Amino acid sequence: MHYQKLNSFPKNFLWGASISAYQAEGGTNEDEKLASIIDKYIHPEGVASFEVASDFYHNYKEDIKLFAELGLKAFRFSIAWTRIMTFDNKKVNEKGIDFYHNIIDECIKYGIEPIVTMYHFDLPYYLEEKGGWLNRQTIDYFLEYAQVLFQEYGGKINYWLTINEQNTMILHPGAIGLPVSGNLPTKKELFQMNHHVLLAQAKVFKIYHELSATGNIGPAINLTAMYQATAAPEDAIAAHNWETLRGWSFLDVAVRGSYNYLFEKYLQDRELYPTIEKNDFKTLAAGKPDFIAINYYSTATIAASKNDGTDESARAGDQQIMLGEEGVYRAAENPYVDKTPYGWVVDASGLRLTLRKLYDRYELPILITENGYGAPDKMDSNGEIHDIERIDYLRKHIRAIQEALTDGVQVLGYLPWSAIDVVSTHQGFNKRYGFIYVDRTDTDLKELARVKKDSFYWYKKVISQNGLDE
Ligand code: BG6
Repeated sequence: MHYQKLNSFPKNFLWGASISAYQAEGGTNEDEKLASIIDKYIHPEGVASFEVASDFYHNYKEDIKLFAELGLKAFRFSIAWTRIMTFDNKKVNEKGIDFYHNIIDECIKYGIEPIVTMYHFDLPYYLEEKGGWLNRQTIDYFLEYAQVLFQEYGGKINYWLTINEQNTMILHPGAIGLPVSGNLPTKKELFQMNHHVLLAQAKVFKIYHELSATGNIGPAINLTAMYQATAAPEDAIAAHNWETLRGWSFLDVAVRGSYNYLFEKYLQDRELYPTIEKNDFKTLAAGKPDFIAINYYSTATIAASKNDGTDESARAGDQQIMLGEEGVYRAAENPYVDKTPYGWVVDASGLRLTLRKLYDRYELPILITENGYGAPDKMDSNGEIHDIERIDYLRKHIRAIQEALTDGVQVLGYLPWSAIDVVSTHQGFNKRYGFIYVDRTDTDLKELARVKKDSFYWYKKVISQNGLDE
């Protein structure tokens, strides 16, 4: 639909940016932080590990000052479970508790809304050794951790995100890292873990609301709309399979409290159905989110499955590069879209479509907690970083949000990935997303100096005028 005039962004629109603890902080062994699964994963030679990352642990004050200069109205970061819980008699690590108070207070000082992700891929290794999410007890550990967070920070935080990209964790575990054994969990195990994570999340929604807190809490899923490769009816069925299994199957449980019928059938038919205890459905139905957060990068294009052993193509998939699944769907190319240097589809209209579909389905406010352009940015001889492709990407996506707002979708804010360069989940430090450049490479830490990219100045202007130029 073309409009004569687009709506303006709401006055209180949360213009922001995001990071996660393990990808930005470093200081992995400091102040009695415990190891997380990420710290124990295999790091391929020559690719940045997370030990120093962007050194946000030591630089957070200067970095938040830069975020204030950028004009951010909101800053999304995650809390490292392993800095907070000690799993011994002490129960909590006061230094970790203080660290996040400091970050939150620093944000508030500059009028930046702190938005907290409670868990962004970095499960404590202590729990992993006990079976991780395969072990039902992990639900109780998450609940205990959540209670500590609500008690400590509840008065200062208006937006909580429970779990970052549960669907990436379950569908693309390899994108987050590879255990030393080299073995990822089986599909059956993954869907059992999925069930436990969903229970943990529902319980946390419930306890948060019982505290009669004034803030909001929601899940954060990696969501992308899809296209069918052709007008063939079989492609349409396959595309619907994908859309359901990749996104709705997670959100239907989080929001409606029940398993999607098609997802249930898929799990049963493939003998992947998890063990579900008597009261689990009650528990799932009892926890409700106030809003939905989505991380949006790309769209997917889907063709009918051939079911002949070739649906799972040989190309490497990650959280955005889709793989086929035998008997369910095949990956197809979309000739109408560009790609980033890392092969992720660039599709701003796909964001508008994703927002519409999400709002249609659940009618809850939406917060966009990630979106961005990963590229091997380089500093030129004048010490400048001209990231024009990123500006172009962000401009188009911001326009798409404005269109979705004009359509009538309720969007609370936009927090692109990433506020500052961070270590990519599986592609090191060369793949950058930040408005602020961190001067280091995969192998050379240099001084870790901060340099504002062209996108910094551009985004600052967008925020200051509450939207794009006409
Ligand atoms: C999202 C994750 O899937 O994508 C982030 O929530 C991640 O943690 C981001 O960094 C970009 O992905 P990558 O693999 O390029 O770092």
